[in-house]
Amino acid sequence: MADAEIVGDYTQNFEAWINDFNEWQTKIGFDPSWLGDYRFDIKFDWDTAGDAIEFGDFEGRPKWERRMQVPQQTIRDAIVNMVSVQGDTEFASVEQQNHLLASAPTEYDKKSALRIMCEEQRHGWQMAYLLCTFFGEQGVREAAKLLERNAQEGTRILGSFNEPIDHWLDFFMFTHFIARDGKYQLKMLSTSSFKPLAASMGPMLKEESFHLGTGANGLRRVVKQGVIPCELVQKYVNKWVSTGLDLFGTDDSSSAQWAYVYAV
Ligand SMILES: [Fe+2]
Ligand SMILES: [Fe+2]
Repeated sequence: MADAEIVGDYTQNFEAWINDFNEWQTKIGFDPSWLGDYRFDIKFDWDTAGDAIEFGDFEGRPKWERRMQVPQQTIRDAIVNMVSVQGDTEFASVEQQNHLLASAPTEYDKKSALRIMCEEQRHGWQMAYLLCTFFGEQGVREAAKLLERNAQEGTRILGSFNEPIDHWLDFFMFTHFIARDGKYQLKMLSTSSFKPLAASMGPMLKEESFHLGTGANGLRRVVKQGVIPCELVQKYVNKWVSTGLDLFGTDDSSSAQWAYVYAV
């Protein structure tokens, strides 16, 4: 596939976005020096992305690799929407968690939380890359919005990502329950008819399993210690399970129906 089919000057688009990203880090108080030698690499696993569309109206046809191969604008919009919602959650979670580093119970917990925040930024970075590279002006606009909405201001797309994470019990609940929902979402996107999106999911899923493990491990230690009263633990289970269930949407969601039809 000739590079000319990628829309516009995608390298320039993404580089401009990176400037916005750097400003965003400063704005939310994430010190870039905390990254150490961590790099925001773009990672694709093309082997697991699949060559043929797996279900829906286009089942059996080759997966789309470029915007112009996607047969309708409405399907492009649906793909852009999927990528935008995913990216939105990644940056939101860093805005929610960032302040916890100052009150980490142990050095181990601090390292785990920092690793999670680095990886969430990489996930958001990957989604912005897809938007800027494959979706022209529309993608560039949506990539910019990923850094404009803000969890502290309650303007992120999904409810769970506007809830404050006030302390480490909150954080462990969040990573246990909300990262689990994230895993389901990534798993669904791994079957996307848009191949670069499907191919992004393998590496993201690997990283997500560490986030889940951090939550489970933290909660296990809290419960074993027996210091925090059961009722209080239950209170935070309720807080996150309820917002987590909302993430699955309504039973009669038409966007879920179209997502199936288009296999996006
Ligand atoms: Fe993530
Ligand atoms: Fe995560």
